[in-house]
Amino acid sequence: MKNLFTGKLTRLVAQDIDAMGAVIAKWSRDSEFYQLFDSDPTRPRNAKRAQEQMRDYAEKNQPGNFSFAVMRLEDDRIIGEGGLFDALSPHRNAWLAIGIGERELWGKGYGTDAVQILLRFGFQELNLHRINLGVFGYNARAIRAYEKIGFVHEGAWRDALKREGKRWDSIGMGILKSEWEAKQNE
Ligand SMILES: CC(C)(COP(=O)(O)OP(=O)(O)OC[C@H]1O[C@@H](n2cnc3c(N)ncnc32)[C@H](O)[C@@H]1OP(=O)(O)O)[C@@H](O)C(=O)NCCC(=O)NCCS
Repeated sequence: MKNLFTGKLTRLVAQDIDAMGAVIAKWSRDSEFYQLFDSDPTRPRNAKRAQEQMRDYAEKNQPGNFSFAVMRLEDDRIIGEGGLFDALSPHRNAWLAIGIGERELWGKGYGTDAVQILLRFGFQELNLHRINLGVFGYNARAIRAYEKIGFVHEGAWRDALKREGKRWDSIGMGILKSEWEAKQNE
């Protein structure tokens, strides 16, 4: 059987909290990255604090949360993080998050590849029925990547974000298992 966590360009691996602290601190110095990734105020993070937060989170972790680091196959470098959250709901839904922290690797297919692995894990191993995500109206690259993968626009929280003096929608997208399966046979 094929390794569920290996894609064409990336592999999902367990997050090594000690190693991830420094990496997250580095990514957090790129304010644009966090503005694309998170609605919380963007700010530089301290490696030790990031590790503490990850340990706290790991201890309190809900069984339905599955977080990974994204490793590039070419050189085993950690280039991002992602996961499925609230994935054990009785309705068989989950939320997806993905962030490639190394900005020179945006637009090269690594994020899309990692999302494809998360979808395979969600639909084949967790037996989910649908996977949802939220994306900010100003994140055209992510919207295009999700459309390419097969996510459907399902609505928007209008004017939910204010950044650089402008209001933006937070867009809801989703994909059903049947839609994902149909894409695999294209
Ligand atoms: C969003 C993200 C996961 C996408 O992964 P990726 O590997 O960079 O995406 P891909 O290279 O497969 O595809 C990006 C697509 O957007 C297009 N694109 C790039 N910049 C764009 C822009 N400014 N406007 C419109 N489309 C754009 C690319 O041309 C490509 O489409 P194509 O394959 O049809 O040519 C990744 O860029 C990332 O992590 N970005 C920073 C954090 C983030 O935005 N996270 C998502 C939060 S919802």
